[in-house]
Amino acid sequence: MRAFTRICCCVIILLSVFSETVLASILAIDYGADWIKASLMKPGVPFDVLLNKDSKRKIQSTVGWKKKDRLFGGDAASIAGRYPTDSFSSLKLLQAVPYDSEAVSFFASISTADVVKTERGTVALRRSDGSEWSVEELIGMQFAYVKQLAEEFSGEPVYDVIVTVPPYYTQFERDSVVDAVELAGMRTLSLINDGTAVAVNYAMTRTFSAPEYHVIYDAGASSVRATVVSFSTASNDSKSKTSAKDSTQISVTGVGFDRSIGGTELDRRLRELMISDFQRRHKRDIRSDKRGMAKLWKEAGRVKAILSANADAMATVESLAFDIDYRSKITRADFEIACRDLKGEFTRPIFDALASAGMTLNNITSVIMTGGASRTPMIQAAVKAAVGDKVAMNVNADEAAVLGAALHGAALSRQFKTKDIKVTDIGAYDVQVSYPAEPKKPSAKPRTISTLVFPSGSKTGSKKTMTLKRSDDFSLKVAYRQPPTASFSTDILHADITGVAEAIQNLTELGATNPVVKATIALSESGFVSVRDVAVHGEIKDGSLTGKLKGLFGGGLTPSEEEMTDDVEAETQQEQVVMSASAPSASPAAAEKTIKEDTVSLGVEVRWTSIPPMSAQEKRQARARLQAVNNEEAAKRRVEEALNALEGYMYRLRDLLDDESANAPFVKCSQEKERKRIAEQLKDTFSWLSEHGESADIGELLDKRTVLEKLEQPIVHRYTEIEEFPKALNNSQMWNWHTRLFLADARQNLTLATQGGPPSKYAAEELEALERTLKDHEAWLDEWVEKQRKVRMNEDPVILSSEMRARAKTLENHLQRLYRKKAPKLTTKKSASAEDTGFAREESTTTSRPSSDAPPTSSTRGGSHDHDEL
Ligand SMILES: *[C@@H]1O[C@H](CO)[C@@H](O)[C@H](O)[C@H]1NC(C)=O
Ligand SMILES: *[C@@H]1O[C@H](CO)[C@@H](O)[C@H](O)[C@H]1NC(C)=O
Ligand SMILES: *[C@@H]1O[C@H](CO)[C@@H](O)[C@H](O)[C@H]1NC(C)=O
Ligand SMILES: *[C@@H]1O[C@H](CO)[C@@H](O)[C@H](O)[C@H]1NC(C)=O
Ligand SMILES: *[C@@H]1O[C@H](CO)[C@@H](O)[C@H](O)[C@H]1NC(C)=O
Repeated sequence: MRAFTRICCCVIILLSVFSETVLASILAIDYGADWIKASLMKPGVPFDVLLNKDSKRKIQSTVGWKKKDRLFGGDAASIAGRYPTDSFSSLKLLQAVPYDSEAVSFFASISTADVVKTERGTVALRRSDGSEWSVEELIGMQFAYVKQLAEEFSGEPVYDVIVTVPPYYTQFERDSVVDAVELAGMRTLSLINDGTAVAVNYAMTRTFSAPEYHVIYDAGASSVRATVVSFSTASNDSKSKTSAKDSTQISVTGVGFDRSIGGTELDRRLRELMISDFQRRHKRDIRSDKRGMAKLWKEAGRVKAILSANADAMATVESLAFDIDYRSKITRADFEIACRDLKGEFTRPIFDALASAGMTLNNITSVIMTGGASRTPMIQAAVKAAVGDKVAMNVNADEAAVLGAALHGAALSRQFKTKDIKVTDIGAYDVQVSYPAEPKKPSAKPRTISTLVFPSGSKTGSKKTMTLKRSDDFSLKVAYRQPPTASFSTDILHADITGVAEAIQNLTELGATNPVVKATIALSESGFVSVRDVAVHGEIKDGSLTGKLKGLFGGGLTPSEEEMTDDVEAETQQEQVVMSASAPSASPAAAEKTIKEDTVSLGVEVRWTSIPPMSAQEKRQARARLQAVNNEEAAKRRVEEALNALEGYMYRLRDLLDDESANAPFVKCSQEKERKRIAEQLKDTFSWLSEHGESADIGELLDKRTVLEKLEQPIVHRYTEIEEFPKALNNSQMWNWHTRLFLADARQNLTLATQGGPPSKYAAEELEALERTLKDHEAWLDEWVEKQRKVRMNEDPVILSSEMRARAKTLENHLQRLYRKKAPKLTTKKSASAEDTGFAREESTTTSRPSSDAPPTSSTRGGSHDHDEL
């Protein structure tokens, strides 16, 4: 299986379209009930799944607390046996679910966590310390953890994320995912249905000379789903060979699913076997023991994995509960009997998907197996029995979805050049819009009109415009036609439309006849339904007087008597472009009268009567809570670091004190009383540490270190000065020597000049001034070097190497000034004003040492150099 990933990595060349600095990386997350997989798309980085801290390719979907320490992944899962109400797994089952729902009852049957109700009516989990964390917050923490892994890997911030969701996810659940992403400090670039993501991964390395249909069969922990996908490749025979590029079209044509079966349900049944076995043998109620139940849950997962490859497995849990060590043999046959009723259910989604696509198995090339539970023999056997040799195991069951999602995210961001794959997906549920009919007579019975706007199977990323004849404010209700699951209500949202009467009046005054309300209902690529661009439209025949007069006389105010027509026009985004493009070429009849369209926007206020997404304020609060946890952890880490640093420093200091050998630099450079003082302070600090170290704050730790450092500092200073002194002296002497050489040479030239030789570059006074500087320097150096030689190693130096260098620098500068001076022109007067050459010297003390036989020069880049010789 791993080989398929490899192929992907080789085939996909990520080329940046823009320069690398403007590119943002894109994180893909496949958030499952059991495992999180992630992948990062970044230019120049090999495309692969993201590894966790232990270099594993997947992370357990668990967050938890061991007392005050927050843990993620396997660390969080492994503490469930000891802290059964502080380890949170299978949170995917709780996304957006109402507190009183089947989903919560199921969760309660598998988990030892305490479920409580939030103000929104959804679910939060209560830790043993009493704090409550909403599902969005807990999943947001996990997303933030993945974000951090990605950032550590790529070395830069990551903001954009694409998340896989099951195709059956309702608007409520999709909102919950997007909210959790936001809490994690990221932006949702898109959601992608997981079957579709696998299809993208499948198409990455293949071309389809003829259209093919495949079923992506995804058996996960939380559910089993099937997606019918058509693949076709249009080869682009463009004239220029270089731009010829194949374009692959992926279209989802049907989905089927069962939310009640999956790996988690199998684990539950396996644990039920173990529970009854335990009760029978030990006559004790294990269900009353949370720790025992949590341990047994973990063991069920382990035993299930063994039974995938073996006919039986030994379940073993030491001191499971009531001081009983549990040991029992579980056979695959027993397990399969316990799951007998599911056999037909495992494959039903395949046939549901085919039916919704209007197909049969004969139309299908293969059934591609994916998802962690697709390795379970009983599921494999069921699928094989149902579809025969169409079963295909040609994608990586764990990673295909996340890798496909990453590729799709890269394509969406348009920042990467990837294989050209176009994806169209579908909505899984009938979505209808309802509104109260406008009463014709005040006495008429209220009537509701419902319109099926997006029947299941509608393409995502499309819009529909409703045209309504209204004279007053009204409300649109967007809802699923049937409850999407037993847990969720049908109501998605209500949109209150306001300002209708006024808008109609304004348009009518402008001369519009029969203005109508138009509302656009959109089904986004990520599967969200929304109401947008609600406006009154009117056709105004020409801006002429007649139109205005008509308005003045109140002509068009009464609604027309004709039957209210409710008209739904489908328009995909592409079609919309066509429509607006064809608009200017109006019909000849209309051209005469110059019909002008005018619109007045209406107010739209969205309300939720079932599960609302998190409000801006709720998200702000939740982010603040998460941030507080992060800050606390960071502060704790800083204290730990300061503590470690202090201890490390103290041990080093103690070693220095303990080294009695006379040659040890620390001993040589220090006096007895200094060492004693340090030893005392060190002893005090060690005893302070053992008493208060645990509770010390960072300031105290730093203070303790400062006190010790102040005592050590003079000794370190002496030592570094002893090291520096010979080097500084060498430097000073070198400049003396160069200056003397220079003076001798220049004086000789001066003498030659007076004897009729070439004119001298320097005047006698200039050379005398340099000689005075040299003498001053030599005298200072002799005096202080002599004094310094009498200072003992464990005494403070009388001159500092820094001062020696500064003084040598004065001499150097004087010498350089003369050296860089321009030679006088043959004809000009001897003492031409010494003009500053503007030569930019590099500020440097040690790198400008000249070679011994040439006059010193800091750099050869200067222009003045060329003029040295006339
Ligand atoms: C062929 O490729 C060119 C350039 O990439 C593009 O403009 C054109 O739309 C493509 N044609 C088809 C049929 O995909
Ligand atoms: C499916 O197969 C049937 C019978 O083989 C055929 O008539 C039909 O056109 C096929 N449908 C598609 C979408 O290919
Ligand atoms: C209608 O016209 C009045 C007066 O021109 C204006 O103040 C008002 O905002 C308009 N209402 C709408 C809904 O456009
Ligand atoms: C002094 O400098 C010279 C020349 O750069 C070098 O060869 C010599 O090793 C130096 N001596 C010391 C003590 O640094
Ligand atoms: C002395 O004269 C020679 C020959 O003109 C020249 O190369 C050299 O730089 C001069 N030296 C000084 C210190 O001016």
